[in-house]
Amino acid sequence: MEDKSNENPLRQGMRLIRTPQPCTLIIFGATGDLTRRKLIPSLFSLYNQSLLPQNFNIIAFARRPKTTEEFRRDMADGLKEFSEFQIDKNPGLDRFLSLIHYHRGDFTQIETHEKLKKFLQKLEDKKDGQRNRLHYLATPPSQYDSIIKNLGTAQLARNENGWTRIIIEKPFGRDLQSALELNKITGDVFTEDQIYRIDHYLGKETVQNILVFRFANGIFEPIWNRRYIDHVQITVAENIGVEGRGRFFEETGILRDIVQNHMLQLLSLFAMEPPSAFDANAVRDEKVKVLKAISPLSRQYIKNNVVRGQYAAGSLMAKSLSGYLQEEGIPDNSITETYVAMKLFIDNWRWASVPFYLRAGKRLPKRVTEIAIYFKDAPLQIFGDVTEGEIPANVLTLKIQPDEGISLKFDSKVPGPGGNIRPVNMDFRYGTSFGESPPDAYERLLLDAMIGDSTLFTRSDENEKAWELLTPILHYWQNNKNRVPQYNIGSWGPKEADDLLNKENRAWRRL
Ligand SMILES: NC(=O)c1ccc[n+]([C@@H]2O[C@H](COP(=O)([O-])OP(=O)(O)OC[C@H]3O[C@@H](n4cnc5c(N)ncnc54)[C@H](OP(=O)(O)O)[C@@H]3O)[C@@H](O)[C@H]2O)c1
Repeated sequence: MEDKSNENPLRQGMRLIRTPQPCTLIIFGATGDLTRRKLIPSLFSLYNQSLLPQNFNIIAFARRPKTTEEFRRDMADGLKEFSEFQIDKNPGLDRFLSLIHYHRGDFTQIETHEKLKKFLQKLEDKKDGQRNRLHYLATPPSQYDSIIKNLGTAQLARNENGWTRIIIEKPFGRDLQSALELNKITGDVFTEDQIYRIDHYLGKETVQNILVFRFANGIFEPIWNRRYIDHVQITVAENIGVEGRGRFFEETGILRDIVQNHMLQLLSLFAMEPPSAFDANAVRDEKVKVLKAISPLSRQYIKNNVVRGQYAAGSLMAKSLSGYLQEEGIPDNSITETYVAMKLFIDNWRWASVPFYLRAGKRLPKRVTEIAIYFKDAPLQIFGDVTEGEIPANVLTLKIQPDEGISLKFDSKVPGPGGNIRPVNMDFRYGTSFGESPPDAYERLLLDAMIGDSTLFTRSDENEKAWELLTPILHYWQNNKNRVPQYNIGSWGPKEADDLLNKENRAWRRL
C-alpha cells in the first residue's frame, strides 16, 4: 500500500505546507523544451520555497552526449530566461543545480534502463536507502511505449522499499484506439494509482477555483442548472500561430491539442455534480459521469454542429502574418484545423437542453481562456416601455487566463431622469485580492505527484471517454476532405462559427 498520509490538496494543502517524502525525479527527455521552459523552473521555484523534500535528486535522462556539468550549465541558462526568481547572486542556485545528474542513453535500449537502475540505487543508498521514484515522461509520445516497457523489464516500475509513480505528458493518445492501446501498455506495467496523466490546465489556480467557487459557496449551487442557465460558452483563444512547430501541429490540430484535454476538463469541472468528498476518486468519478452524459455525436450532428477553420494570411497588431497553409512544413492541401467550434449537450437532469458552445483557435485577436455562463431573462419584462432596445442577459464569467478572476455582468439603471438600463460589471481579480500572481501549474502538479495526490490528474476512463466523444469528429473530417473554411487572422473564426449561434438567436461573447 502507498503511504498517502500527506494527500488532499484543498482540504489541507491550501492552509498547510505540504512536503513530500524524500524521492528522486527521473525526467525522460530532459534536453527538451518542456524541461527547460517549465519543469526545471518549477522545481527551482519549489526549491526556493523549501517545498522540495529532503534528500531530493533529479536524474535528467536524454540521448545527446553531455556531462552533468554541461547539463547543469544549460539549466542555469534556462533559469535565467524562464525562472521568476532572480538567478544572479541567488545563493540557492548552485545547491539546486547540484541535485541534478545527467544520464545519457537511448530510451529504446534496455541496457540504458538497467544502467539507470544501478545509478538510482547508488544515489539512494548514499542517502537513506528509500526507493521513492517519480518517472516523468517529457518526451514525444512516440517514445512512451519503449520507455514504459523498458521500465517494466528493468523492474523500475514496482513499489519496492518505497513508492514508484509515473507522470505522462499530454497528448495521451491521438484517438480512442491509440488511447486504449496506451492505457493497456501502461496498465500492464503500472497500477492505475501509480499513473499520473498530466493536463497542466488542472494545475492552474483558476481552474481549481471552479470547484471552490461552486462547492465552497452556498449561493451558486441553486442556480447552477437548466432552470436558470440559458447556455454556456467556453473559449480557449490564442493569438499565436504554430510558432515554428508546424510539423507537430499538422499531425495534431486544435481538436486534439486543446479540446480533448483542456476544454473537456473545464467543461466537466463546470458541469459535474458535487463530489461526496474532496478526494481523487470522488472528484474524478463525477467528472467521468459528465463525459458519459454528453450526447454522442452522429455524422449528421457533426455536420450541423461542429465547425472547423484554418487561419488565412492577414495582419494582427499591425504585423503581416502568413496563413496556416504558408507556414513552414505545412502541405498545400492540409486539412488540419487551427480553429474549432461546436455545440454539445449534457443529457442529465441538471443540464438537459442547455447548449454548451465550445470554441478554440489560433491567431484569434487575443489570448483568453474563460467560461461564460449566460442566465435566462427575468420571467416578466416590466421595463420594455422605459428603456431602449433589449435588456442584455446576466453573464457570469470565470476567467481562467490571462486576467484571472470572476466577473458578473448585470443590468443597472443609468443615472438620471430617464429609465435607460445598461449592463455593469462586478469584478474579482486574483492579483488585486491576493496581492500575488498564481504559481505556475507545473509547480502544483509536480508537488501533488510527489505527495501521491492524483485529484488533478486524468484517470484512464476519463481520458478514454473524452476520446470516445471526439473520435467521430476526427473520422468525419478525414472522410470529408473538402477545403477547410478559412478565417482572417485577427478575426474570431470562420463565418460558419457565428452561424452556429446566430441561427439560435445567440451570439459569441465579444472579448
Ligand atoms: N514544450 C511544451 O511546452 C509542452 C507543453 C505541454 C506538453 N508538452 C509535451 O511534453 C512532451 C515533451 O515535449 P518537448 O517539447 O519537451 O519535446 P522535445 O523538445 O522534442 O524533447 C524531446 C526529448 O526527448 C528526448 N528523446 C527523444 N527520443 C529519444 C530516445 N530515443 N532516447 C533518448 N532520448 C530521446 C530528446 O533527447 P535528445 O534531444 O537528447 O535526443 C529530448 O530530450 C511532449 O509529449 C509534448 O507534447 C510539451
